[in-house]
Amino acid sequence: MSFGTGKIWMNGELVEWADAKIHVASHVVHYGSAVFEGARCYDTPRGAACFRLDTHLRRLFDSAKIYRMEMSLSYDEVHKAVIDTIKANQYKACYIRPIVYRGYHTLGVNPLPCPVDTAVILWDWGAYLGTDALTNGVDARMSSWTRAAPNTFPTLAKTSANYANSALIKMEAMAEGYAEGIALDTAGFLSEGSGQNLFIVRNNVLYTPPATASILPGITRDSIITLAKDHGFDVREEMLPREVLYIADEAFFVGTAVEVTPIRSVDKIPVGNGRRGPITEAIQQAFFDVINGVVADKHGWLEFVYDGEPRATVGAATTAGRA
Ligand SMILES: Cc1ncc(COP(=O)(O)O)c(C=O)c1O
Repeated sequence: MSFGTGKIWMNGELVEWADAKIHVASHVVHYGSAVFEGARCYDTPRGAACFRLDTHLRRLFDSAKIYRMEMSLSYDEVHKAVIDTIKANQYKACYIRPIVYRGYHTLGVNPLPCPVDTAVILWDWGAYLGTDALTNGVDARMSSWTRAAPNTFPTLAKTSANYANSALIKMEAMAEGYAEGIALDTAGFLSEGSGQNLFIVRNNVLYTPPATASILPGITRDSIITLAKDHGFDVREEMLPREVLYIADEAFFVGTAVEVTPIRSVDKIPVGNGRRGPITEAIQQAFFDVINGVVADKHGWLEFVYDGEPRATVGAATTAGRA
């Protein structure tokens, strides 16, 4: 099914896509008062499998807590809503977008009087930057926009409001013919792309900006750190100056949407030899092998959708060790 078709879960009910509407005076429309997730379900030889859904939902609840949103649903209810919606749409593979938003009541800036509503939207989403990008890489530019300073918009929360900054980074890059923009933090260190985290390879060591560099600490980033260590690579989370990108042997973006996408140039300077490098390819392969279910899922990252009932209880408090 494509974007615009199928059923959407809204506050406990499955409704047709065309009927999944909110009022224009809803708080979220005016003030971006929503938190959301982006996860994926993959078609594996054992059937449809969600990748790290627990961890995504843990982050959803964390984001809501940061914004003082009292969830009207428990963790298990949101988890069940996602699984039920995949089943209702009979998806084998899809992108999963749970969103928790401030609904219709009053339009003062104070969101607290407004209801906290929840929806789960699914659609088919292929390679975010195109399938060619996975092999040949993308051209990126340094953005003239800076990521949010600490203590302004919390970047640990995946909130709709943060994507105003992401959209500026993305539009500027595209206007000048680049696939993506890479932003610095307010101290001038490398942060991330408009909707993806960043890795750099130099002398066989993998570097990635730390959580303190105004990044969204991505679940793919965490998975790549784990897989790279599994494969014997040295991985360092460090504040990185911008020019490291210009002298990197390899660089790549990671995220639920882009998965693992090589960066072939930054500001028209080729990264390495301007092609996907061998370490990027090895990391991509390791990641794709896990999500495609062709190697043992030793970290327990796949959740099979049609394997009987959804797993019993994985409440937010109990997922801490796995998040
Ligand atoms: C700003 C930003 N950074 C990083 C990521 C990557 O996060 P994840 O791997 O959890 O999808 C995303 C993806 O949603 C994002 O929007």
